Amino acid sequence: MADMRSSIVITVFSTASGIGKTFLATNIAAELAHHGHSVCLLDLDLQFGDVCNYLKLEPQLTIADAQLALERSPDQFRADHFLTTFRHGDTSFAIIPPPRTLLESYNIQSGTLEQLVVALNHFDFIIFDTPKIFSDLILTALDLSTIITFLCVADFVPAIKNLKTGYDTLHRFSYEDNRIRLVQNRSDSQKLILTEDVEQVLGKQFYYNLPNDFMSAKRSIERGYPLVLEGGSNPLSDSLRLLVGQLTNRETTSTVEPEPETQSGGGIISWFKGLFGGR
Ligand SMILES: Nc1ncnc2c1ncn2[C@@H]1O[C@H](COP(=O)(O)OP(=O)(O)O)[C@@H](O)[C@H]1O
Ligand SMILES: [Mg+2]
Repeated sequence: MADMRSSIVITVFSTASGIGKTFLATNIAAELAHHGHSVCLLDLDLQFGDVCNYLKLEPQLTIADAQLALERSPDQFRADHFLTTFRHGDTSFAIIPPPRTLLESYNIQSGTLEQLVVALNHFDFIIFDTPKIFSDLILTALDLSTIITFLCVADFVPAIKNLKTGYDTLHRFSYEDNRIRLVQNRSDSQKLILTEDVEQVLGKQFYYNLPNDFMSAKRSIERGYPLVLEGGSNPLSDSLRLLVGQLTNRETTSTVEPEPETQSGGGIISWFKGLFGGR
């Protein structure tokens, strides 16, 4: 696949729900589009996708319709016909919505995603929003990705266990570490677990920390356009802009190396070491 790809593909993935994947994916798409890039956002949360809800869109056609057209006559396939456009002010980007019914969502094939990425390769960026599963489709999305933005909210031991399992799984599938960007959302919210402890469990520092701002996130979703398009400045929208700049090398990237495991850490660290054999 890699030789056929000319778009930069950014996947927003996580091992938990409700932690900001769709919020981040829509903001990445909007920020890139705002900077003049052509962007297509695919909602791969096929059963419970929120992209169109977050952007207040009522699409006519979905990925299921695109798959049908690809099956019927791949040579005649025109990807542009299946796009829904989001517009706000001077900024616009394309979306491929998830199927309308659960039944249709079960039938979406990984091969369709591969064909779509080829058919959409005139876009500068393709963004995948995903659900929290390692399905065939999501593994294909990860395979096709230039950058895997692995999002987490590290405030709860089971969530950290799943984060560690997911992160180790990506390594086991041989995704190069420099493709994986660990991003902590709501990083400064009140929590009992220290970021340093989570980093020690993962053996990697977070690439980026997004601040907690429930009201701004909620307001942007209620208004129906991504926070970065609100204009003005607040810590969360500024952080989102910087993150996108860093992901796409618009700003100087500082590669964060893992800290040597010097301290023995608190209870959570030894508990995790027992669970994962010290990785
Ligand atoms: N940095 C943040 N601070 C506060 N709330 C946030 C932040 N990012 C996302 N949220 C909120 O988290 C909720 C879940 O976000 P969503 O993107 O739907 O999660 P997911 O796609 O992972 O299920 C939304 O209500 C959103 O407003
Ligand atoms: Mg979502």
